[in-house]
Amino acid sequence: MLAGGEPVDFDALPIARRSSPILRVAVLASGRGSNLQALIDAQRAGTLPVEIVLVASDKAQAPALRRAEDAGIATLALDPKSYASRAAFDADLFARVAGHEPALIVLAGFMRILDPTALAPWVGRIVNIHPSLLPKYRGLHTHRRALEAGDATHGTSVHFVDAELDGGPLLAQAEIPVLAGDTPDLLAERLLVQEHRLLVACVAEIAAGRVALVDSRVRRDGVPLGAPLRLRADGSLA
Ligand code: GRF
Repeated sequence: MLAGGEPVDFDALPIARRSSPILRVAVLASGRGSNLQALIDAQRAGTLPVEIVLVASDKAQAPALRRAEDAGIATLALDPKSYASRAAFDADLFARVAGHEPALIVLAGFMRILDPTALAPWVGRIVNIHPSLLPKYRGLHTHRRALEAGDATHGTSVHFVDAELDGGPLLAQAEIPVLAGDTPDLLAERLLVQEHRLLVACVAEIAAGRVALVDSRVRRDGVPLGAPLRLRADGSLA
């Protein structure tokens, strides 16, 4: 495969594809877990060749954990209040996650800022889904902020995670129109459908070894992206 004329050493990519035919995925989620469910459903339908090896949460009551249990997936709940610091919590969380040997970590509604030291070994192997067209509206209340700004379109982004909140190189986005009469809840509800499709498409591309973060740049088939991939109507990325 050629990247701008340079040969790409796929063995050197952060997510090695040769060790296992099925990508081992850990999902971190704090709440409802509908994005997790989308991954579970796609995996079960045979459209997403991954094994979800763990679902971990900072909330013992998170519905995401119940969804994982129902699917027969190992779960882990850790209470941040039992730790002396964010760094201590994140160090333990990531050490336990590592014990399940995931090749990829997916943040699917994991509502915590990550400690840079705990995160560092995972950079390139951890992605997040965020409900805005990043770099617009990092953080919370993205739907309300898009409405208040009078945006004509809204959307969702999947990005590789770095130490910056909702920062990190963008992998792909899905866009929806803002409609007359939209409220934050209505917008969120419509966008969630696209979040599920986008996340499944992105994890599928990573699992297929097509997309990877190399030298701080997202590459697809070895070629650095000039812009985030877009979700097409058929669920593929272009
Ligand atoms: C989603 O909107 C996701 O983009 C954001 O948190 C929400 C999680 O929803 N990061 P769910 O728990 O996956 O249903």
